[in-house]
This record gives sequence, structure tokens and C-alpha cells, in this order.
Amino acid sequence: MALGAGTILEARDLCLRFGAVEALKSVSLSVHAGSIHALIGPNGAGKSSLLNCLSGFYHPWSGAVLFQGKDIGAKSPPARSVLGIGRTFQGIQTYPSMTARENILTGFHSQMRGGVFSALFRLPHTLRQEEAFTERAEEIIAFLELEQDRHRTVGDMSYGLRKRVDLGRALATDPKILIMDEPMAGMSPEEKGDLARFILDIRDHFGIPVVLVEHDMDVVMDISDQVTVLEFGKVIADGPPEAIANDESVITAYLGAAEPAA
Ligand SMILES: Nc1ncnc2c1ncn2[C@@H]1O[C@H](COP(=O)(O)OP(=O)(O)O)[C@@H](O)[C@H]1O
Ligand SMILES: [Mg+2]
Repeated sequence: MALGAGTILEARDLCLRFGAVEALKSVSLSVHAGSIHALIGPNGAGKSSLLNCLSGFYHPWSGAVLFQGKDIGAKSPPARSVLGIGRTFQGIQTYPSMTARENILTGFHSQMRGGVFSALFRLPHTLRQEEAFTERAEEIIAFLELEQDRHRTVGDMSYGLRKRVDLGRALATDPKILIMDEPMAGMSPEEKGDLARFILDIRDHFGIPVVLVEHDMDVVMDISDQVTVLEFGKVIADGPPEAIANDESVITAYLGAAEPAA
């Protein structure tokens, strides 16, 4: 199975059903290293289902998911996270009673080595690891411009800030690719602009490719390198944003339609 040049994550001919609903009908997707790949389409098109197949929460009935050329179809979501597939979910996933910094530190759990025994007895390598995580958390806090908010309880924060903390938690898992389901839904234009800038920086500074579902076409056209359009569980178009914006079937199916409800 030859891998396309520079492909880091690939879905091949995924089919997924829920009862009578065919959520995915032979869907294929190739995410290139170092790219921002947007997934668009009307509500119910299968966008979240596809992301869930990539991160292991859903198991396709047929087809394959490949990460760095290896079939990862049998791997659980935590195992995929350890491999480097990071993700954020629709809505808020942070712990509201914890501070921004504490929430980000929870992201390091998947990388902890040594288990309970060394944690209890605070063995030297555990202490070194803790120091490294603390340092890395500070880097993430600085990167996401959360310095002023690091000790604030997340439950008291605005939606935009909480989503930023959630992104910090995902970055703490040391991802090789980041999957984000509607990260900008419910955000003000200013918050969207901030998050778009962080997503570009994640690609440019960390070299981490990002796959995201987004409804705001201005944002999609601004930041993405590649766009895949889903409709009724099928890919109807795939290509650079300029080509997608001029694609007749896309215009009919999606761009011409009324703005979908968030
Ligand atoms: N866990 C599930 N159980 C039953 N049906 C589901 C489930 N997840 C998704 N679906 C169905 O699959 C279709 C695609 O949904 P989804 O992937 O959430 O679309 P999108 O994210 O594009 O709005 C919809 O008809 C939805 O109702
Ligand atoms: Mg969805």
C-alpha cells in the first residue's frame, strides 16, 4: 500500500452505519504533513463521524485508517493519542473547577512513564519527568498567551478562553497531528480570529498538521491548505480552497445554502 508523498494520516474507503443511516459511504481522506486540512459540509454530513474514525472512537465497518503509513484500525483512542493523534472535541471538555495550568497538565498523563509505584515514591526519573512537564506547560501557556490566566479557574472563563485552554491540553499530549471538531463554534469574531492565528502558529512553529471541521467559510478559505467537502456521507469535493470555492457541486450543496445552525 503505497502512501502518497508527505501523507501523515489517511482514511481509505471508510464505510460506517448507524442502523439505517449510512454516516460514511466509502470516504477517503489524505492529510499532508504540515498542512491545515479543513473538513466542511452541512450538518449530518458525517464530519464528526469521520474524525471519530480517525481518532478511534468509532470503528468503520470497512476501510482502513493509516497513520504514518501504518494501519491503526485496531488501536483504541488512548493508544492513538500515544502514537501522536491529538484531538479536541465539539463543545467544552475542560475541567471547570481546575485552573488553566492544571487543565493543561492533565494532557501530560498519557506520556507519564513509571506508573503508580514511581509516582508514590517520587523516584528521581519521576521528578525529572515532572520538571520537564512543568517546563513544557509553561511553554504552552506562553504560546497560547495564557500567562495572565494560568491560575484562574476555567469555569469562570469566557468560552473562547476555555477553548484555548482545551487546545493547550491537546498540545500537552505532544501530538504529531491535531484533530479539532468545530473549535470555533459559538465564538465571537474576535475569538475566532485569535484561534485561527494559533492554529496557523501550531502548523508553522511546531510543524503540527491540523484537521478541523469549520463552518465559517471565511476562516476556512483564510487558513486551510486543503479542503474536503462531505455531503450525505460522501466526499463531493477535495482540493485547495480556491478550487473548492469555485466548485459547482460545492456551491450547490453547501456554500449556496443558508448558514447552518451552530
Ligand atoms: N453515535 C451515533 N449514533 C447514531 N447515529 C449517529 C451517531 N453519530 C452520528 N450519527 C448519525 O450519522 C450521521 C452523520 O453525523 P455526524 O458525523 O455527526 O455529522 P456532522 O458532524 O457532519 O454534522 C447523522 O445522520 C447522525 O445522526
Ligand atoms: Mg459534527
